[in-house]
Amino acid sequence: MIASSLLYGLLAAASTANAYSHVKSINYSVVTGIFQQDDNATDPSTFNFTASNFGLIDRSYPSDSSCPDRKHTTQWQRLAHYISTLNKKAKNNERYSLFFMGRHGEGYHNAAETYFGTPAWNCYWSELDGNKTVTWADAHLTDVGVQQAERVNTFWKHLIKDEKITTPETYYTSPLYRCLDTAKLTFSGLQLPHKSPFKPVIKEYLREGISAHTCDRRSTKSYIKKKFPDFKFEKKFAEKDPYWVKLQAEPRADQDARSKAVLDDIFSNDDSTYISITSHSGEIGSLLRVLGHRAFSLSTGSAIPVLVKATTLYADAPATTTMPYTPQKTCAAPPAIRDSSCNDCSCCT
Ligand SMILES: *[C@@H]1O[C@H](CO)[C@@H](O)[C@H](O)[C@H]1NC(C)=O
Ligand SMILES: *[C@@H]1O[C@H](CO)[C@@H](O)[C@H](O)[C@H]1NC(C)=O
Ligand SMILES: *[C@@H]1O[C@H](CO)[C@@H](O)[C@H](O)[C@H]1NC(C)=O
Ligand SMILES: *[C@@H]1O[C@H](CO)[C@@H](O)[C@H](O)[C@H]1NC(C)=O
Repeated sequence: MIASSLLYGLLAAASTANAYSHVKSINYSVVTGIFQQDDNATDPSTFNFTASNFGLIDRSYPSDSSCPDRKHTTQWQRLAHYISTLNKKAKNNERYSLFFMGRHGEGYHNAAETYFGTPAWNCYWSELDGNKTVTWADAHLTDVGVQQAERVNTFWKHLIKDEKITTPETYYTSPLYRCLDTAKLTFSGLQLPHKSPFKPVIKEYLREGISAHTCDRRSTKSYIKKKFPDFKFEKKFAEKDPYWVKLQAEPRADQDARSKAVLDDIFSNDDSTYISITSHSGEIGSLLRVLGHRAFSLSTGSAIPVLVKATTLYADAPATTTMPYTPQKTCAAPPAIRDSSCNDCSCCT
């Protein structure tokens, strides 16, 4: 009893302190009408970002008349000018940034899910590190995944040379191997400005939603450092994965809360207008929810640009309660069923 009232006292003291501190909170919204992907009429399952100039809509902007030499200026150059005018006119607490969010290329875990079928993958195989021939714990890219990343690299070369796109000023990536490798293959060997080279920073909170799957468990910091010596780690990056727990899953609300936290962290510490993120299907989905973008699911090796308006508010930050992880059911042997009617592993054989 004494212990718990002491604890209550500490919590009460902490929340009083918060009430006085007017915590900074950042509100995000998407500037729509710039990219096809934010339009409900665009079907994510058939959309091809490399065939459509990254989805950039052919249009005029209110700032075009002040754009130097309009006739010889590409859509991307006029967009850059527009974003620059938006930032010049923005209030002190407002800012516009263009995010390029890329999903990793196909990993061994993706190929294994296709091979075994989703029920057998989710309820049995994904909890193992691999089988006799393939490892999918912290999965590496398959040959297909490497090719996908190389194709995006070729696409960036085209965007830089022909479209005069403004390349990212900073690069962030998930700590999972498939993203580290995708970022490296995508952005290596490009003609980048000297002031914004490819110097990626690894951020823990850009990792995939945590599930019982071993492909969501990251490698140690020393291993990553050995494999990707040019990548930097964010501060306080732990040697061993502190978050993955055997047979437990991170609730979606927790994932969205850390997606918001990582965006707040980026916006609070990085002045860049052009930002690249290499991450996962589930995590990019979560980032899009936090930014207020419509759902837009990405196939392996695809990317999406999002023009974001960030507004900093000085108010009491809304309380975020963290939910405990939820235990995951599995099967002792792979279920024979192949269709996805067995998400809860009720079809164990
Ligand atoms: C945050 O932005 C959204 C628009 O995306 C707006 O509807 C909402 O009112 C804003 N919230 C605050 C607290 O200003
Ligand atoms: C897009 O679709 C969503 C969900 O169906 C809807 O809420 C939203 O209003 C739509 N937006 C536009 C611009 O039509
Ligand atoms: C997307 O378009 C490119 C041409 O820009 C083409 O080479 C590629 O095969 C297309 N991808 C798909 C999945 O259709
Ligand atoms: C292991 O799984 C992969 C699917 O990713 C499959 O191609 C391979 O045949 C499996 N190996 C064995 C020994 O079953």
